[in-house]
Amino acid sequence: MLGPLVVEYDGQVLSLGDTREARLLGLLALSANRPLSLASVADALWTGRPPASHGELVNRYVRRLRLLCGPELRLSAVGRGVYQLDLAPEQLDLLQFGRLTAQARADYEAGDLEAAYDTYQQALDCWRGPVLAGHEQTGPVVDVLSRQRLSATLALADVGRLLGRHEQTIVRLEAVREDEPLHEGLHARLMTALAGALKLYENLSTRLSAELGIEPGPELRAAQLTVLRQEVSPRDAPAGHNFLPRDVHDFVGRDMETDQLVERLLTTSGNGVHALSGMAGIGKTTLAVRLGHRLGEWFPDGQLFVDLRTHSKHAPLTAQAALLRQLGVNGHRIPDRLDESAALWRSLLVGRSILVVLDDVADAAQVRPLLPGGGADCRLLITSRSHLTSLDAVGMTPLGVLSGPEAVDLFARVAGKRRLAGHAHEVHEIAALCGFLPLALRIAASRFRDRPLWTVEHLLSLLRDDHRRLPALSAGDRSVGNALTLSYRRLSPEHKRLYRLLGDFPGVDIAPAAIADAGIERTTRLLEDLVDVNLLGQPALGRYRFHDLVRDHARETARSKPARRSTTSARGMKTKRASIGPEVSW
Ligand SMILES: Nc1ncnc2c1ncn2[C@@H]1O[C@H](COP(=O)(O)OP(=O)(O)OP(=O)(O)O)[C@@H](O)[C@H]1O
Ligand SMILES: [Mg+2]
Repeated sequence: MLGPLVVEYDGQVLSLGDTREARLLGLLALSANRPLSLASVADALWTGRPPASHGELVNRYVRRLRLLCGPELRLSAVGRGVYQLDLAPEQLDLLQFGRLTAQARADYEAGDLEAAYDTYQQALDCWRGPVLAGHEQTGPVVDVLSRQRLSATLALADVGRLLGRHEQTIVRLEAVREDEPLHEGLHARLMTALAGALKLYENLSTRLSAELGIEPGPELRAAQLTVLRQEVSPRDAPAGHNFLPRDVHDFVGRDMETDQLVERLLTTSGNGVHALSGMAGIGKTTLAVRLGHRLGEWFPDGQLFVDLRTHSKHAPLTAQAALLRQLGVNGHRIPDRLDESAALWRSLLVGRSILVVLDDVADAAQVRPLLPGGGADCRLLITSRSHLTSLDAVGMTPLGVLSGPEAVDLFARVAGKRRLAGHAHEVHEIAALCGFLPLALRIAASRFRDRPLWTVEHLLSLLRDDHRRLPALSAGDRSVGNALTLSYRRLSPEHKRLYRLLGDFPGVDIAPAAIADAGIERTTRLLEDLVDVNLLGQPALGRYRFHDLVRDHARETARSKPARRSTTSARGMKTKRASIGPEVSW
Protein backbone atom coordinates (compact mmCIF):
# COMPACT_ATOMS: atom_id res chain seq x y z
CA MET A 1 0.00 0.00 0.00
CA LEU A 2 2.83 2.39 0.80
CA GLY A 3 3.83 2.75 -2.83
CA PRO A 4 2.35 1.03 -5.89
CA LEU A 5 -0.19 -1.63 -4.89
CA VAL A 6 1.32 -5.13 -5.08
CA VAL A 7 0.10 -8.42 -3.71
CA GLU A 8 2.69 -10.96 -2.65
CA TYR A 9 1.48 -14.52 -2.42
CA ASP A 10 3.61 -17.58 -1.89
CA GLY A 11 6.75 -15.76 -2.93
CA GLN A 12 5.13 -14.47 -6.13
CA VAL A 13 4.43 -10.81 -6.78
CA LEU A 14 1.07 -10.12 -8.29
CA SER A 15 0.55 -6.73 -9.84
CA LEU A 16 -3.10 -5.93 -10.41
CA GLY A 17 -2.61 -2.78 -12.48
CA ASP A 18 -5.18 -0.01 -12.28
CA THR A 19 -8.30 -2.19 -12.49
CA ARG A 20 -11.52 -1.82 -10.46
CA GLU A 21 -10.52 -5.00 -8.57
CA ALA A 22 -7.21 -3.40 -7.60
CA ARG A 23 -8.90 -0.21 -6.44
CA LEU A 24 -11.39 -2.25 -4.39
CA LEU A 25 -8.54 -4.18 -2.79
CA GLY A 26 -6.68 -0.93 -2.02
CA LEU A 27 -9.80 0.50 -0.46
CA LEU A 28 -10.38 -2.55 1.69
CA ALA A 29 -6.74 -2.59 2.80
CA LEU A 30 -6.90 1.08 3.76
CA SER A 31 -9.63 0.15 6.24
CA ALA A 32 -8.12 -3.22 7.08
CA ASN A 33 -9.88 -5.11 9.89
CA ARG A 34 -12.76 -2.67 9.78
CA PRO A 35 -16.11 -3.01 7.97
CA LEU A 36 -16.60 -1.00 4.80
CA SER A 37 -20.03 -0.17 3.41
CA LEU A 38 -21.11 -0.70 -0.18
CA ALA A 39 -21.89 3.03 -0.40
CA SER A 40 -18.23 3.94 0.43
CA VAL A 41 -17.02 1.36 -2.09
CA ALA A 42 -19.30 2.77 -4.79
CA ASP A 43 -18.13 6.32 -4.02
CA ALA A 44 -14.52 5.33 -4.51
CA LEU A 45 -14.95 3.12 -7.58
CA TRP A 46 -17.22 5.31 -9.68
CA THR A 47 -17.03 9.00 -10.25
CA GLY A 48 -20.55 10.42 -10.27
CA ARG A 49 -23.57 8.13 -10.01
CA PRO A 50 -22.71 4.43 -9.83
CA PRO A 51 -24.54 2.09 -12.23
CA ALA A 52 -27.84 0.59 -10.97
CA SER A 53 -26.23 -2.85 -10.79
CA HIS A 54 -23.25 -1.64 -8.73
CA GLY A 55 -24.02 -4.04 -5.86
CA GLU A 56 -23.82 -6.98 -8.24
CA LEU A 57 -20.67 -5.57 -9.87
CA VAL A 58 -18.88 -5.18 -6.51
CA ASN A 59 -19.76 -8.77 -5.62
CA ARG A 60 -18.29 -9.85 -8.93
CA TYR A 61 -15.03 -7.95 -8.15
CA VAL A 62 -14.90 -9.58 -4.73
CA ARG A 63 -15.26 -13.04 -6.29
CA ARG A 64 -12.51 -12.27 -8.82
CA LEU A 65 -10.17 -10.99 -6.08
CA ARG A 66 -10.67 -14.19 -4.09
CA LEU A 67 -9.87 -16.18 -7.19
CA LEU A 68 -6.75 -14.12 -7.96
CA CYS A 69 -5.33 -13.96 -4.46
CA GLY A 70 -6.30 -17.41 -3.19
CA PRO A 71 -7.68 -18.59 0.14
CA GLU A 72 -5.19 -16.51 2.18
CA LEU A 73 -7.24 -13.43 1.36
CA ARG A 74 -9.63 -13.16 4.27
CA LEU A 75 -12.18 -11.01 2.54
CA SER A 76 -15.73 -11.49 3.73
CA ALA A 77 -19.16 -9.94 3.40
CA VAL A 78 -20.02 -9.23 7.02
CA GLY A 79 -23.62 -8.36 6.35
CA ARG A 80 -25.68 -7.19 3.43
CA GLY A 81 -23.60 -4.65 1.51
CA VAL A 82 -20.77 -4.55 4.11
CA TYR A 83 -17.26 -5.92 3.42
CA GLN A 84 -14.20 -6.48 5.57
CA LEU A 85 -10.61 -7.48 4.83
CA ASP A 86 -8.81 -9.04 7.77
CA LEU A 87 -5.03 -8.81 7.79
CA ALA A 88 -2.29 -9.37 10.37
CA PRO A 89 0.29 -6.53 10.81
CA GLU A 90 3.02 -8.54 9.05
CA GLN A 91 0.73 -8.97 6.03
CA LEU A 92 0.26 -5.29 5.31
CA ASP A 93 3.00 -2.62 5.16
CA LEU A 94 0.51 -0.06 6.36
CA LEU A 95 -0.15 -1.94 9.58
CA GLN A 96 3.54 -2.66 10.00
CA PHE A 97 4.36 1.04 9.64
CA GLY A 98 1.81 1.87 12.36
CA ARG A 99 3.21 -0.78 14.67
CA LEU A 100 6.84 0.30 14.14
CA THR A 101 6.19 4.02 14.66
CA ALA A 102 4.34 3.23 17.89
CA GLN A 103 7.33 1.13 18.95
CA ALA A 104 9.80 3.94 18.02
CA ARG A 105 7.82 6.45 20.09
CA ALA A 106 7.90 4.07 23.03
CA ASP A 107 11.69 3.59 22.64
CA TYR A 108 12.17 7.34 22.57
CA GLU A 109 10.05 7.90 25.63
CA ALA A 110 12.04 5.19 27.38
CA GLY A 111 15.21 7.17 26.60
CA ASP A 112 16.64 4.57 24.18
CA LEU A 113 17.59 6.89 21.33
CA GLU A 114 19.54 4.29 19.34
CA ALA A 115 16.57 1.91 19.31
CA ALA A 116 14.15 4.73 18.48
CA TYR A 117 16.33 5.83 15.56
CA ASP A 118 16.61 2.29 14.17
CA THR A 119 12.90 1.62 14.56
CA TYR A 120 11.98 4.88 12.82
CA GLN A 121 14.30 3.82 10.00
CA GLN A 122 12.53 0.45 9.74
CA ALA A 123 9.14 2.19 9.79
CA LEU A 124 10.17 4.52 6.95
CA ASP A 125 11.60 1.55 5.03
CA CYS A 126 7.99 0.33 4.68
CA TRP A 127 7.44 3.22 2.26
CA ARG A 128 8.15 2.66 -1.42
CA GLY A 129 6.46 5.86 -2.65
CA PRO A 130 3.18 7.75 -2.18
CA VAL A 131 0.23 5.75 -0.83
CA LEU A 132 -1.20 3.52 -3.57
CA ALA A 133 0.95 5.20 -6.20
CA GLY A 134 -0.55 4.87 -9.66
CA HIS A 135 -4.15 4.79 -8.39
CA GLU A 136 -6.27 7.83 -8.08
CA GLN A 137 -6.82 7.32 -4.39
CA THR A 138 -7.29 10.50 -2.50
CA GLY A 139 -9.29 11.01 0.59
CA PRO A 140 -8.90 11.46 4.28
CA VAL A 141 -7.18 8.11 4.91
CA VAL A 142 -4.48 8.76 2.32
CA ASP A 143 -3.90 12.27 3.71
CA VAL A 144 -3.64 10.93 7.23
CA LEU A 145 -1.08 8.34 6.13
CA SER A 146 1.05 10.91 4.28
CA ARG A 147 1.04 13.08 7.41
CA GLN A 148 2.08 10.08 9.50
CA ARG A 149 5.03 9.49 7.17
CA LEU A 150 6.05 13.13 7.48
CA SER A 151 5.85 13.13 11.26
CA ALA A 152 7.83 9.87 11.47
CA THR A 153 10.50 11.49 9.25
CA LEU A 154 10.62 14.61 11.42
CA ALA A 155 10.81 12.49 14.58
CA LEU A 156 13.69 10.52 13.04
CA ALA A 157 15.47 13.80 12.18
CA ASP A 158 15.11 14.98 15.78
CA VAL A 159 16.57 11.76 17.16
CA GLY A 160 19.21 11.75 14.41
CA ARG A 161 20.36 15.25 15.44
CA LEU A 162 20.81 14.14 19.03
CA LEU A 163 22.82 11.14 17.85
CA GLY A 164 24.85 13.09 15.24
CA ARG A 165 23.51 10.87 12.39
CA HIS A 166 23.26 13.71 9.91
CA GLU A 167 23.95 12.03 6.64
CA GLN A 168 21.24 9.31 6.84
CA THR A 169 18.82 11.90 8.18
CA ILE A 170 19.39 14.10 5.13
CA VAL A 171 18.49 11.23 2.82
CA ARG A 172 15.25 10.58 4.76
CA LEU A 173 14.26 14.26 4.76
CA GLU A 174 15.01 14.54 1.06
CA ALA A 175 12.67 11.60 0.37
CA VAL A 176 9.63 13.58 1.54
CA ARG A 177 10.74 17.04 0.48
CA GLU A 178 9.11 16.85 -2.95
CA ASP A 179 5.70 16.19 -1.36
CA GLU A 180 6.20 18.94 1.21
CA PRO A 181 7.88 21.80 -0.67
CA LEU A 182 6.70 24.46 1.78
CA HIS A 183 6.94 22.66 5.10
CA GLU A 184 9.07 24.89 7.33
CA GLY A 185 9.79 22.26 9.98
CA LEU A 186 11.07 19.87 7.35
CA HIS A 187 13.36 22.46 5.79
CA ALA A 188 14.62 23.65 9.16
CA ARG A 189 15.64 20.08 10.02
CA LEU A 190 17.24 19.62 6.61
CA MET A 191 19.33 22.74 7.09
CA THR A 192 20.41 21.64 10.55
CA ALA A 193 21.37 18.19 9.28
CA LEU A 194 23.36 19.62 6.35
CA ALA A 195 25.24 22.02 8.59
CA GLY A 196 25.87 19.24 11.12
CA ALA A 197 27.18 16.83 8.48
CA LEU A 198 29.61 19.34 7.03
CA LYS A 199 30.84 20.43 10.44
CA LEU A 200 31.44 16.80 11.33
CA TYR A 201 33.49 16.34 8.16
CA GLU A 202 35.53 19.48 8.81
CA ASN A 203 36.23 18.51 12.45
CA LEU A 204 37.25 15.00 11.53
CA SER A 205 39.38 16.10 8.63
CA THR A 206 41.22 18.60 10.89
CA ARG A 207 41.82 15.92 13.53
CA LEU A 208 43.00 13.36 10.97
CA SER A 209 45.49 15.81 9.61
CA ALA A 210 46.67 17.10 13.03
CA GLU A 211 46.87 13.76 14.84
CA LEU A 212 47.70 11.30 12.08
CA GLY A 213 48.99 13.54 9.32
CA ILE A 214 46.54 12.02 6.83
CA GLU A 215 43.66 13.27 4.77
CA PRO A 216 40.08 11.91 4.84
CA GLY A 217 39.75 8.60 3.01
CA PRO A 218 37.51 7.87 0.02
CA GLU A 219 34.55 6.75 2.16
CA LEU A 220 34.47 9.95 4.16
CA ARG A 221 34.97 12.11 1.09
CA ALA A 222 32.13 10.27 -0.65
CA ALA A 223 29.92 10.99 2.37
CA GLN A 224 30.86 14.66 2.22
CA LEU A 225 30.04 14.64 -1.46
CA THR A 226 26.62 13.15 -0.78
CA VAL A 227 25.90 15.97 1.62
CA LEU A 228 27.12 18.68 -0.74
CA ARG A 229 25.07 17.16 -3.52
CA GLN A 230 21.95 17.21 -1.36
CA GLU A 231 22.65 20.81 -0.53
CA VAL A 232 22.52 21.72 -4.19
CA SER A 233 19.80 19.42 -5.40
CA PRO A 234 18.61 20.06 -8.96
CA ARG A 235 15.56 21.87 -7.62
CA ASP A 236 17.68 24.46 -5.83
CA ALA A 237 20.21 25.24 -8.52
CA PRO A 238 19.56 28.41 -10.43
CA ALA A 239 18.01 26.60 -13.36
CA GLY A 240 18.41 28.04 -16.80
CA HIS A 241 20.88 30.73 -15.77
CA ASN A 242 22.88 32.09 -18.63
CA PHE A 243 26.45 33.07 -17.78
CA LEU A 244 27.55 33.68 -21.36
CA PRO A 245 29.01 37.06 -22.29
CA ARG A 246 27.00 39.22 -24.67
CA ASP A 247 26.53 38.16 -28.26
CA VAL A 248 27.88 40.58 -30.91
CA HIS A 249 25.18 42.28 -32.98
CA ASP A 250 27.25 42.56 -36.17
CA PHE A 251 28.21 38.92 -36.53
CA VAL A 252 29.20 37.80 -40.04
CA GLY A 253 29.72 34.44 -41.79
CA ARG A 254 30.56 31.10 -40.13
CA ASP A 255 27.51 29.39 -41.62
CA MET A 256 29.25 26.09 -42.28
CA GLU A 257 30.89 25.89 -38.87
CA THR A 258 27.64 26.90 -37.17
CA ASP A 259 25.68 24.13 -38.92
CA GLN A 260 28.33 21.59 -38.08
CA LEU A 261 28.53 22.57 -34.43
CA VAL A 262 24.77 22.81 -33.96
CA GLU A 263 24.43 19.28 -35.28
CA ARG A 264 27.24 17.99 -33.10
CA LEU A 265 26.01 19.69 -29.96
CA LEU A 266 22.43 18.58 -30.36
CA THR A 267 23.08 14.97 -31.24
CA THR A 268 24.30 12.44 -28.74
CA SER A 269 27.21 11.26 -30.85
CA GLY A 270 30.64 11.22 -29.17
CA ASN A 271 31.18 12.20 -25.56
CA GLY A 272 29.54 15.59 -25.86
CA VAL A 273 32.84 17.51 -25.99
CA HIS A 274 33.57 19.73 -28.98
CA ALA A 275 36.38 22.13 -29.59
CA LEU A 276 36.85 25.17 -31.78
CA SER A 277 40.46 25.81 -32.58
CA GLY A 278 42.23 28.56 -34.45
CA MET A 279 44.76 31.38 -34.22
CA ALA A 280 44.48 34.42 -31.98
CA GLY A 281 41.66 36.75 -32.93
CA ILE A 282 40.08 34.40 -35.47
CA GLY A 283 36.68 34.52 -33.70
CA LYS A 284 36.53 31.34 -31.58
CA THR A 285 35.03 32.98 -28.49
CA THR A 286 32.62 35.04 -30.57
CA LEU A 287 31.29 31.96 -32.35
CA ALA A 288 31.10 29.83 -29.18
CA VAL A 289 29.18 32.55 -27.35
CA ARG A 290 26.82 33.06 -30.26
CA LEU A 291 26.13 29.32 -30.44
CA GLY A 292 25.55 29.19 -26.69
CA HIS A 293 22.87 31.89 -26.94
CA ARG A 294 21.27 30.32 -29.99
CA LEU A 295 21.05 26.89 -28.37
CA GLY A 296 19.82 28.19 -25.02
CA GLU A 297 16.43 26.53 -25.21
CA TRP A 298 18.08 23.14 -25.78
CA PHE A 299 19.94 23.47 -22.50
CA PRO A 300 17.21 24.52 -20.07
CA ASP A 301 19.35 23.87 -16.99
CA GLY A 302 21.81 26.60 -17.90
CA GLN A 303 24.60 27.87 -20.10
CA LEU A 304 27.82 28.19 -18.14
CA PHE A 305 30.93 30.07 -19.24
CA VAL A 306 34.42 30.25 -17.91
CA ASP A 307 37.46 31.97 -19.42
CA LEU A 308 40.43 29.75 -18.67
CA ARG A 309 42.90 32.50 -19.62
CA THR A 310 42.01 34.47 -16.51
CA HIS A 311 42.60 31.35 -14.42
CA SER A 312 46.04 30.66 -15.85
CA LYS A 313 48.07 29.66 -12.80
CA HIS A 314 45.75 27.24 -10.99
CA ALA A 315 43.41 26.88 -13.95
CA PRO A 316 41.53 23.63 -13.33
CA LEU A 317 40.82 24.29 -9.65
CA THR A 318 39.78 27.91 -9.90
CA ALA A 319 37.88 27.34 -13.12
CA GLN A 320 36.04 24.51 -11.45
CA ALA A 321 35.22 26.72 -8.48
CA ALA A 322 33.81 29.33 -10.88
CA LEU A 323 31.66 26.70 -12.59
CA LEU A 324 30.43 25.26 -9.29
CA ARG A 325 29.41 28.75 -8.19
CA GLN A 326 27.49 29.16 -11.44
CA LEU A 327 25.72 25.90 -10.59
CA GLY A 328 24.65 27.39 -7.27
CA VAL A 329 27.22 25.88 -4.89
CA ASN A 330 27.98 28.19 -2.01
CA GLY A 331 31.59 29.48 -2.18
CA HIS A 332 32.71 28.14 1.19
CA ARG A 333 31.35 24.69 0.35
CA ILE A 334 33.60 24.28 -2.68
CA PRO A 335 36.28 21.68 -1.97
CA ASP A 336 39.84 22.93 -2.33
CA ARG A 337 41.14 19.62 -3.64
CA LEU A 338 40.88 19.07 -7.37
CA ASP A 339 39.66 15.45 -7.16
CA GLU A 340 36.91 16.40 -4.71
CA SER A 341 35.70 19.40 -6.62
CA ALA A 342 35.86 17.39 -9.88
CA ALA A 343 33.72 14.68 -8.28
CA LEU A 344 31.22 17.26 -7.04
CA TRP A 345 31.15 18.92 -10.45
CA ARG A 346 30.49 15.61 -12.22
CA SER A 347 27.83 14.55 -9.75
CA LEU A 348 26.00 17.86 -10.14
CA LEU A 349 25.93 17.54 -13.92
CA VAL A 350 24.10 14.21 -13.79
CA GLY A 351 20.57 14.49 -15.08
CA ARG A 352 20.96 18.10 -16.13
CA SER A 353 20.86 19.57 -19.56
CA ILE A 354 23.62 22.14 -19.50
CA LEU A 355 25.94 23.74 -22.03
CA VAL A 356 29.38 24.60 -20.68
CA VAL A 357 31.68 26.87 -22.67
CA LEU A 358 35.33 26.58 -21.66
CA ASP A 359 36.98 29.54 -23.33
CA ASP A 360 40.63 29.81 -24.28
CA VAL A 361 41.86 26.51 -22.99
CA ALA A 362 45.66 26.35 -23.08
CA ASP A 363 46.09 22.59 -23.03
CA ALA A 364 44.34 19.26 -22.50
CA ALA A 365 45.34 19.11 -18.82
CA GLN A 366 43.12 22.12 -18.10
CA VAL A 367 40.10 20.37 -19.57
CA ARG A 368 40.34 16.82 -18.18
CA PRO A 369 39.06 17.54 -14.64
CA LEU A 370 36.15 19.47 -16.15
CA LEU A 371 34.90 16.69 -18.41
CA PRO A 372 31.42 15.46 -17.45
CA GLY A 373 31.03 11.86 -16.33
CA GLY A 374 28.47 9.31 -17.50
CA GLY A 375 24.78 10.11 -17.09
CA ALA A 376 25.24 13.80 -17.77
CA ASP A 377 23.15 15.30 -20.52
CA CYS A 378 25.58 18.12 -20.87
CA ARG A 379 27.76 19.45 -23.67
CA LEU A 380 31.15 21.05 -23.42
CA LEU A 381 32.20 23.57 -26.03
CA ILE A 382 35.87 24.38 -25.84
CA THR A 383 37.77 27.15 -27.58
CA SER A 384 41.51 26.94 -27.87
CA ARG A 385 44.39 28.32 -29.87
CA SER A 386 45.83 24.85 -29.73
CA HIS A 387 44.60 21.69 -31.46
CA LEU A 388 44.41 19.86 -28.09
CA THR A 389 45.65 16.73 -29.83
CA SER A 390 46.08 14.78 -26.62
CA LEU A 391 42.43 15.13 -25.63
CA ASP A 392 40.60 11.95 -26.61
CA ALA A 393 37.35 11.75 -28.51
CA VAL A 394 36.83 15.45 -28.93
CA GLY A 395 35.06 16.71 -32.03
CA MET A 396 37.33 19.40 -33.49
CA THR A 397 36.20 22.27 -35.69
CA PRO A 398 39.08 24.35 -37.05
CA LEU A 399 38.30 28.00 -37.62
CA GLY A 400 40.03 29.82 -40.50
CA VAL A 401 40.01 33.42 -41.63
CA LEU A 402 36.86 34.98 -43.12
CA SER A 403 36.20 34.90 -46.86
CA GLY A 404 36.89 38.15 -48.77
CA PRO A 405 33.21 39.24 -48.92
CA GLU A 406 32.64 38.36 -45.24
CA ALA A 407 35.72 40.34 -44.21
CA VAL A 408 34.59 43.36 -46.24
CA ASP A 409 31.12 43.02 -44.73
CA LEU A 410 32.52 43.01 -41.16
CA PHE A 411 34.73 46.02 -41.85
CA ALA A 412 31.83 47.95 -43.42
CA ARG A 413 29.38 47.13 -40.61
CA VAL A 414 31.76 48.44 -37.96
CA ALA A 415 33.26 51.37 -39.90
CA GLY A 416 29.92 52.58 -41.25
CA LYS A 417 28.95 52.11 -44.90
CA ARG A 418 28.45 55.78 -45.72
CA ARG A 419 32.13 56.79 -45.53
CA LEU A 420 33.16 53.79 -47.60
CA ALA A 421 30.90 54.53 -50.57
CA GLY A 422 32.84 54.47 -53.84
CA HIS A 423 35.88 52.77 -52.24
CA ALA A 424 35.05 49.12 -52.81
CA HIS A 425 38.48 48.31 -54.21
CA GLU A 426 40.34 49.98 -51.33
CA VAL A 427 38.13 48.34 -48.72
CA HIS A 428 38.93 44.96 -50.20
CA GLU A 429 42.63 45.76 -49.98
CA ILE A 430 42.21 46.81 -46.33
CA ALA A 431 40.49 43.49 -45.62
CA ALA A 432 43.35 41.62 -47.29
CA LEU A 433 46.00 43.62 -45.37
CA CYS A 434 44.15 42.67 -42.18
CA GLY A 435 44.68 39.11 -43.34
CA PHE A 436 40.87 38.60 -43.26
CA LEU A 437 41.35 38.19 -39.52
CA PRO A 438 38.22 39.30 -37.55
CA LEU A 439 40.20 40.88 -34.71
CA ALA A 440 42.31 42.96 -37.11
CA LEU A 441 39.25 43.95 -39.15
CA ARG A 442 37.31 45.03 -36.10
CA ILE A 443 40.21 47.10 -34.72
CA ALA A 444 40.95 48.76 -38.08
CA ALA A 445 37.24 49.47 -38.62
CA SER A 446 36.68 50.88 -35.11
CA ARG A 447 39.72 53.14 -35.40
CA PHE A 448 38.44 54.38 -38.76
CA ARG A 449 34.94 54.92 -37.33
CA ASP A 450 36.29 56.89 -34.36
CA ARG A 451 38.48 59.22 -36.48
CA PRO A 452 36.25 61.27 -38.73
CA LEU A 453 39.25 62.94 -40.38
CA TRP A 454 40.77 59.72 -41.63
CA THR A 455 40.23 58.82 -45.25
CA VAL A 456 40.15 55.29 -46.60
CA GLU A 457 43.47 56.04 -48.34
CA HIS A 458 45.04 57.09 -45.05
CA LEU A 459 44.12 53.83 -43.34
CA LEU A 460 45.34 51.96 -46.39
CA SER A 461 48.71 53.72 -46.28
CA LEU A 462 49.15 52.74 -42.61
CA LEU A 463 48.34 49.11 -43.31
CA ARG A 464 50.53 48.90 -46.43
CA ASP A 465 53.59 49.86 -44.42
CA ASP A 466 55.16 46.69 -42.96
CA HIS A 467 56.42 48.59 -39.92
CA ARG A 468 53.25 50.54 -39.15
CA ARG A 469 50.76 47.74 -39.80
CA LEU A 470 50.85 46.04 -36.39
CA PRO A 471 50.86 49.30 -34.39
CA ALA A 472 47.90 50.45 -36.52
CA LEU A 473 45.99 47.33 -35.49
CA SER A 474 45.88 48.26 -31.86
CA ALA A 475 43.16 50.20 -30.04
CA GLY A 476 42.69 50.45 -26.30
CA ASP A 477 42.90 47.02 -24.76
CA ARG A 478 42.46 45.32 -28.12
CA SER A 479 45.55 44.65 -30.16
CA VAL A 480 46.57 42.05 -32.72
CA GLY A 481 50.18 42.34 -31.53
CA ASN A 482 49.28 41.69 -27.89
CA ALA A 483 47.06 38.75 -28.82
CA LEU A 484 49.96 37.17 -30.69
CA THR A 485 52.43 37.97 -27.94
CA LEU A 486 50.23 35.93 -25.62
CA SER A 487 50.61 32.92 -27.92
CA TYR A 488 54.35 33.57 -28.19
CA ARG A 489 54.77 33.70 -24.41
CA ARG A 490 53.22 30.25 -24.08
CA LEU A 491 56.03 28.75 -26.23
CA SER A 492 59.11 26.98 -24.91
CA PRO A 493 62.46 28.80 -25.37
CA GLU A 494 63.33 26.53 -28.29
CA HIS A 495 60.04 27.23 -30.06
CA LYS A 496 60.36 30.95 -29.33
CA ARG A 497 63.76 30.98 -30.93
CA LEU A 498 62.50 29.22 -34.07
CA TYR A 499 59.52 31.60 -34.25
CA ARG A 500 61.85 34.60 -34.23
CA LEU A 501 64.08 32.93 -36.79
CA LEU A 502 61.11 32.41 -39.07
CA GLY A 503 60.25 36.09 -38.73
CA ASP A 504 63.31 36.84 -40.83
CA PHE A 505 62.52 34.15 -43.36
CA PRO A 506 62.17 35.84 -46.72
CA GLY A 507 59.79 33.44 -48.51
CA VAL A 508 56.10 32.74 -48.16
CA ASP A 509 56.23 28.97 -47.82
CA ILE A 510 58.71 27.59 -45.34
CA ALA A 511 60.39 24.22 -45.93
CA PRO A 512 62.22 22.62 -42.97
CA ALA A 513 65.29 22.08 -45.14
CA ALA A 514 65.54 25.84 -45.59
CA ILE A 515 65.92 26.31 -41.85
CA ALA A 516 67.73 23.13 -40.87
CA ASP A 517 68.89 25.02 -37.85
CA ALA A 518 68.58 22.08 -35.52
CA GLY A 519 68.59 19.28 -38.08
CA ILE A 520 65.68 18.58 -40.41
CA GLU A 521 63.92 16.13 -38.18
CA ARG A 522 64.01 18.31 -35.10
CA THR A 523 63.12 21.41 -37.08
CA THR A 524 60.13 19.62 -38.63
CA ARG A 525 59.00 18.59 -35.16
CA LEU A 526 59.26 22.16 -33.88
CA LEU A 527 57.42 23.51 -36.94
CA GLU A 528 54.64 20.96 -36.38
CA ASP A 529 54.35 22.16 -32.79
CA LEU A 530 53.86 25.73 -34.06
CA VAL A 531 51.11 24.39 -36.34
CA ASP A 532 49.51 22.74 -33.31
CA VAL A 533 49.22 26.08 -31.55
CA ASN A 534 48.02 27.80 -34.74
CA LEU A 535 51.03 30.10 -35.09
CA LEU A 536 51.83 28.46 -38.42
CA GLY A 537 49.61 27.06 -41.13
CA GLN A 538 50.38 24.05 -43.29
CA PRO A 539 49.22 24.59 -46.88
CA ALA A 540 50.81 21.33 -48.09
CA LEU A 541 52.68 18.42 -46.61
CA GLY A 542 56.19 19.53 -45.67
CA ARG A 543 55.36 23.22 -46.25
CA TYR A 544 54.57 25.78 -43.58
CA ARG A 545 53.23 29.29 -43.87
CA PHE A 546 52.66 32.25 -41.59
CA HIS A 547 49.47 34.29 -41.57
CA ASP A 548 50.67 37.70 -42.82
CA LEU A 549 50.08 39.39 -39.46
CA VAL A 550 51.80 36.57 -37.57
CA ARG A 551 54.81 37.00 -39.81
CA ASP A 552 54.81 40.71 -39.03
CA HIS A 553 54.69 39.84 -35.35
CA ALA A 554 57.49 37.26 -35.62
CA ARG A 555 59.61 39.83 -37.46
CA GLU A 556 58.93 42.51 -34.85
CA THR A 557 59.71 40.05 -32.06
CA ALA A 558 62.95 39.06 -33.79
CA ARG A 559 63.86 42.74 -34.12
CA SER A 560 63.55 43.31 -30.39
CA LYS A 561 65.29 40.02 -29.62
CA PRO A 562 67.23 38.63 -32.59
CA ALA A 563 67.48 34.84 -32.84
CA ARG A 564 71.02 33.64 -33.23
CA ARG A 565 71.19 31.11 -36.02
CA SER A 566 73.86 28.75 -37.22
CA THR A 567 75.81 29.63 -40.36
CA THR A 568 74.38 26.66 -42.27
CA SER A 569 70.87 27.83 -41.67
CA ALA A 570 71.77 31.35 -42.73
CA ARG A 571 73.21 29.98 -45.92
CA GLY A 572 70.14 27.77 -46.40
CA MET A 573 67.87 30.77 -46.08
CA LYS A 574 69.85 32.70 -48.64
CA THR A 575 69.62 29.97 -51.29
CA LYS A 576 65.89 29.61 -50.61
CA ARG A 577 65.35 33.27 -51.43
CA ALA A 578 65.00 32.19 -55.06
CA SER A 579 61.83 30.23 -54.25
CA ILE A 580 59.84 33.20 -52.96
CA GLY A 581 56.39 33.01 -54.48
CA PRO A 582 53.54 35.53 -54.66
CA GLU A 583 52.14 36.60 -51.29
CA VAL A 584 49.11 34.52 -50.49
CA SER A 585 46.81 35.24 -47.58
CA TRP A 586 46.55 32.36 -45.18
N1 LIG B 1 32.07 36.17 -37.11
C1 LIG B 1 32.33 37.36 -36.58
N2 LIG B 1 31.55 38.41 -36.86
C2 LIG B 1 31.83 39.62 -36.33
N3 LIG B 1 32.86 39.87 -35.52
C3 LIG B 1 33.67 38.86 -35.22
C4 LIG B 1 33.44 37.56 -35.72
N4 LIG B 1 34.40 36.75 -35.24
C5 LIG B 1 35.17 37.51 -34.47
N5 LIG B 1 34.74 38.77 -34.44
C6 LIG B 1 35.37 39.87 -33.71
O1 LIG B 1 36.77 39.67 -33.73
C7 LIG B 1 37.37 39.90 -32.49
C8 LIG B 1 38.15 38.67 -32.05
O2 LIG B 1 37.25 37.60 -31.87
P1 LIG B 1 37.39 36.55 -30.69
O3 LIG B 1 37.73 37.24 -29.43
O4 LIG B 1 36.20 35.71 -30.73
O5 LIG B 1 38.66 35.74 -31.19
P2 LIG B 1 39.34 34.49 -30.50
O6 LIG B 1 39.59 33.51 -31.59
O7 LIG B 1 38.53 34.03 -29.38
O8 LIG B 1 40.71 35.11 -30.01
P3 LIG B 1 41.65 34.63 -28.82
O9 LIG B 1 42.42 33.46 -29.31
O10 LIG B 1 42.52 35.82 -28.56
O11 LIG B 1 40.77 34.31 -27.67
C9 LIG B 1 36.24 40.27 -31.55
O12 LIG B 1 36.24 41.64 -31.38
C10 LIG B 1 34.98 39.86 -32.26
O13 LIG B 1 33.93 40.72 -32.01
MG1 LIG C 1 38.92 33.91 -27.37
